[in-house]
This record gives sequence, structure tokens and C-alpha cells, in this order.
Amino acid sequence: MRSPSRFSKGRRLTMDRPRLIRILLICGSLRAGSTNEAVLRTAQESATEGVEGILYHGMGDLPLFNPDDDPVEGPPPPAVAALRQQLRKSEGILISTPEYAGALPGPLVNLLDWTVGGGETYGMPVGFVNAAGRAAPTGGTSAHASLRTILGYTGSEIVEAACPRVPVHRADIGKDGLIANHEAREEIALPSRPWQNVRCAMTRKAASCPSASARGSRHFA
Ligand SMILES: Cc1cc2nc3c(=O)[nH]c(=O)nc-3n(C[C@H](O)[C@H](O)[C@H](O)COP(=O)(O)O)c2cc1C
Repeated sequence: MRSPSRFSKGRRLTMDRPRLIRILLICGSLRAGSTNEAVLRTAQESATEGVEGILYHGMGDLPLFNPDDDPVEGPPPPAVAALRQQLRKSEGILISTPEYAGALPGPLVNLLDWTVGGGETYGMPVGFVNAAGRAAPTGGTSAHASLRTILGYTGSEIVEAACPRVPVHRADIGKDGLIANHEAREEIALPSRPWQNVRCAMTRKAASCPSASARGSRHFA
């Protein structure tokens, strides 16, 4: 398994600085040159101050989910243990996924199945970017509805403001692997802002939060 890539714009953790909000970026596509991965890399690049995106690379290494391989006593398979460790080290998740045949890609469902037993995503804020291109038959509607259902089952908090629809075409990806289209980049930068609210909710400094409107409800603003 490749190690997770780290991006923090050269920022370093020190004793006197607040800890970075760490967001695990999960791509539902295993395809090289994936538009969804480009979206997540762009979100990582555009992260606001205090937010760090970590791109998860292990989805293709996860074994097919089998409850028998996830014993209450004893360790899970190594790739699963690595996923769970990444989740435990994160304050939130941002997903970008294609739709395949009106559903979520199998590898992403498999990953989510492994999160049920571990419980790491219970109460964790999650956003998902819908990057389905304008020519996509359904605009990814079914996949994202299904993602919402699964995240409900795994007890995640859906961050509505971190769930934008940003249609991306393969031609929008630049040579650097990031979204070259300026408007799309601006939209993709948006999901990193709501995590500031998550930080405020965690540190109980509500008065200094950018938006406190929906805090206390099941879904973060
Ligand atoms: C097998 C297959 C099935 C697909 N089914 C759908 C679909 O049901 N709805 C949709 O909007 N797009 C569908 N697409 C289009 C993908 O969502 C689109 O190619 C997307 O850009 C792939 O994401 P990626 O670039 O991150 O790999 C399908 C693509 C493939 C390869």
C-alpha cells in the first residue's frame, strides 16, 4: 500500500499553535487520471488555514468485506487496520466519487462496509463533492443518495456546506493533476471552509465561529 500523501502548505505543528483540522480525502474511483481524485487534490491544494487534507490511497488494497475477517477479538486485515488508523487520526472526511450503473462504485461500498465494524466514523463530519460531468446520465444522483444513506447508517454527520455539485470534465484537469478551470477550483475550495466550524464545535469556541447557524443540529452547516 502506498503511504498517504500529506499536504499542509509547509505548515508545522508547534506547541503554541492550534492543531490542524485533519480531513481524510477518499476517492471512489481507482482509475488513473480520475476526475474525482483531481477534485480531491484540488481541495487539498486549496485548503484554508488550519485545515490539512490527507489523500487516502489504500482503497484498492482492502480485501472484500467479510464479517468473519473482522473479529471482535484480534486484529483486522492489515489494510483495514491502516484505514482505521487513518480515520482515527482524522477529524473529518471528504469523499468524491463517480456513479457506476446508477450506484456507488463497489470498491467504495467495500471501504464503507469496513468502517461499520470499526466505528471510527460514528459522529464524524463528512462531506462529499459531486463531480459528475454535465454529460453524465443522472449527474451521479443515485450514487450520492446512496452515499447519504450509508453515511446515516455509519452515524456520520453530513456537512451540507461541504457537499457541492461541481461538474468536472476530464479536459478540466491540468498537467499538474489539479482542476485547471478557475470557476471549478473556487467551488472545490469551498468544502474546506466548513471544517472551521467543525473545529469551533470541537473546541466550544462558538462565538468565534464563521457560522454557528446549524451547530447543535445533526448536520453541520
Ligand atoms: C462502468 C461505468 C458505469 C457508469 N455509470 C454511470 C452512471 O450510472 N451515472 C453517471 O452519472 N455516470 C456513470 N458513469 C460515468 C462516470 O461517472 C464518469 O466516467 C466519471 O467521470 C468517472 O469518474 P473518474 O474520472 O473519477 O474515474 C459510468 C462510467 C463507467 C466506467
